[in-house]
Amino acid sequence: MMTTHERLSRCLKQLRTKTDFVPRVGLILGSGLGDFAANIDVECSVAYSELEGFPVSTVPGHQGRYIFGRIKGVPVCCMQGRIHFYEGYDMQTVVLPVRLMRMMGAQILFITNAAGGINTDFKPASLMLIEDHISTFIGSPLIGPNEEEFGLRFPDMTKVYDTELRGTIAACAAELDIELFRGVYCQLPGPQFETPSEIRMLRIMGADAVGMSSVCEAIAARHMGMRVCGVSCISNLAAGMTGMPLTHEEVISSADAAAINFKALVAASIAAF
Ligand code: HPA
Repeated sequence: MMTTHERLSRCLKQLRTKTDFVPRVGLILGSGLGDFAANIDVECSVAYSELEGFPVSTVPGHQGRYIFGRIKGVPVCCMQGRIHFYEGYDMQTVVLPVRLMRMMGAQILFITNAAGGINTDFKPASLMLIEDHISTFIGSPLIGPNEEEFGLRFPDMTKVYDTELRGTIAACAAELDIELFRGVYCQLPGPQFETPSEIRMLRIMGADAVGMSSVCEAIAARHMGMRVCGVSCISNLAAGMTGMPLTHEEVISSADAAAINFKALVAASIAAF
């Protein structure tokens, strides 16, 4: 059986027949940022389906391709469409697109997502700089034999979110006059939204926002030595906080409402990295 590194080396070879683009930043486009590519000078794109063994996104609004381009000269690889654990892929498969970006040459991973707000200061369409994360009830993407090509068996997670990159994002938000909260992001497997009791549990645990992605991606990226940063768009207050049921439509419409600021912040930050 092929190792993950062998699988990815084959994907890299296939990708290199299509483009020799070497990104500095890998950017995962979450809800609300789906059309972010309009902000960059696009050079080319490669669909995940063109890469053997690559997962394809099954979520409406997540397209499943890499877009290569530049933001103020900075070479960026965007993941338009991430893979979620709840789609039925195992964790090792979920993080393949992130690992391949590292193998293309990306040194920085910029994560974006839509998340439910647990912190009572947040409102729908608030933006939150991710300061740390909590992994709950999801397996680690690093389970299984450790592949030394990727990193250490027991990688340190003391500082997953890079201090300097966080500082740059905060400075860009101030410059653009965009309110930027800070907090801890927690990943649950989903796909069901949480119960009010689960949200109370997460609040006691120290989470400010909850979602169904990102933590596994950050772990895989740190394992491979990438510098990681991330911003959440608070698309809704979490379950039980408003008395209203949660819907995917609300998540999408709030993420769209925040999109102008969100895109401006991400673009300015990458240009300043
Ligand atoms: N819970 C989990 N994931 C989410 C939420 C939420 O309330 N909003 C957007 N993604």
